[in-house]
Amino acid sequence: MERFRVEGGHRLSGAVRVHCAKNAVLPILAGAILADDPTTVLDCPDIADVSNMVRILQTLGCEVSAQGAALRVDPSSIHSDTMPEDLSKRLRSSVFMMGALLGRLRRAVVPYPGGCEIGQRPIDLHLSGLTALGVDIREEGGLVVCDGGRMRGGEVHLDYPSVGATENVMMAAARIPGRTVIHNAAREPEIADLQRFLNACGARIAGAGSATIEIEGVRRMRGATYRPMPDRIEAGTLLAAAAATGGEVELTDAPVEELGAVMAKLREMGCRVEAGAGRVALAAPPRLDSPGQLITLPYPGFPTDMQAQMLALTCCARGTSIITETVFENRFTHVGDLRRMGANIVVKDRTAIVRGVRSLHGARVCARDLRGGAALLIAGLAAHGETVVEGAELIDRGYERLEWMLGGLGARIRRERQTDE
Ligand code: UD1
Repeated sequence: MERFRVEGGHRLSGAVRVHCAKNAVLPILAGAILADDPTTVLDCPDIADVSNMVRILQTLGCEVSAQGAALRVDPSSIHSDTMPEDLSKRLRSSVFMMGALLGRLRRAVVPYPGGCEIGQRPIDLHLSGLTALGVDIREEGGLVVCDGGRMRGGEVHLDYPSVGATENVMMAAARIPGRTVIHNAAREPEIADLQRFLNACGARIAGAGSATIEIEGVRRMRGATYRPMPDRIEAGTLLAAAAATGGEVELTDAPVEELGAVMAKLREMGCRVEAGAGRVALAAPPRLDSPGQLITLPYPGFPTDMQAQMLALTCCARGTSIITETVFENRFTHVGDLRRMGANIVVKDRTAIVRGVRSLHGARVCARDLRGGAALLIAGLAAHGETVVEGAELIDRGYERLEWMLGGLGARIRRERQTDE
């Protein structure tokens, strides 16, 4: 077990390069098994979710090798359609393997998936989407057994634009006979990135990034070399960290267009944000203003994966902020820890009311999920005194050595082994 020790009150400044997006890399690694020959995914972030996905692919029989940050996946030796239970529980995105396995082997056996404890995260939308493609699904002893022997293209109507369900159906449909249309698809940019990757492998998919995606099934897919899009959530987290300290930061290799909602909120809070050609520059005032309201929504709305970090920012902003989480039902677990640091927050159902205080103070707190953990680090950077954030492993699921990135900008932050005291 590891933890971060943060000495607050140091203004961040400097430039930092954004890594490739976790949420693009994971489905692309799953999609690699649709091809008959090897795929190379360039610039994979060195994070726990990616290494768990690699282990899942290896357990299924794929050969995966790393050359620096590039991962080469050779799916030609895939021999199993059954997802390993322990790894699947550790990684919510293992659910994408369902669509990819069905596309490749016409059969998939998956345990109910794991991931961050942020709400129930059922998989009903995935299952109804696959059923519309002719997959026969039954439950056996806690496992979901999917038989795709009679799969064919079909009309899929998602009740809610689920990111994972959209990606799963895209992958399942890519290599089966016939045409599939996904209605009410999620529009997250990582879905468009998955489309670009699958098309580079020979798939025929159009419309990703909009609410209607059309997939013309192909008989064969080949491997590709692909660099996934940059991580808009890592980028947003770094901007928030700089803003919390009244600092300034320049991001390079940044997903400028995809950060629109986050940049707009930071501007409302008084930051100067300039963006263009893969660069975003932010300069924050000594004290931020409240953004008033912030509501999380599917893309292009404000991303739920940035809610916790923004909530941390509003703790010391001038005025009252009302933050409503509509995407997940249990995503305020960071609030208790922020209160221990002196924040004034009341949560009612899915809304947090934050009354800005002059300053936070350091405390011993605990990351309870990936983004909530990042929010505590951000609060720690702004607080007076020292903050200890336990549960570094949860933060490592989605950020490649966040302490290096922040340290490079002047943060005083170090990782240490957690010992019982
Ligand atoms: C993906 C992202 C995650 C992000 C989320 C929303 C990846 C690897 N993860 O997660 O970082 O927070 O999108 O932007 O890309 N739901 C159902 N039934 C289902 C599927 C989902 O009720 O079958 C619900 C979920 O419980 C949740 C909401 O739909 O309340 C959104 O989930 P979804 O869009 O599927 O998120 P993920 O794909 O899990």
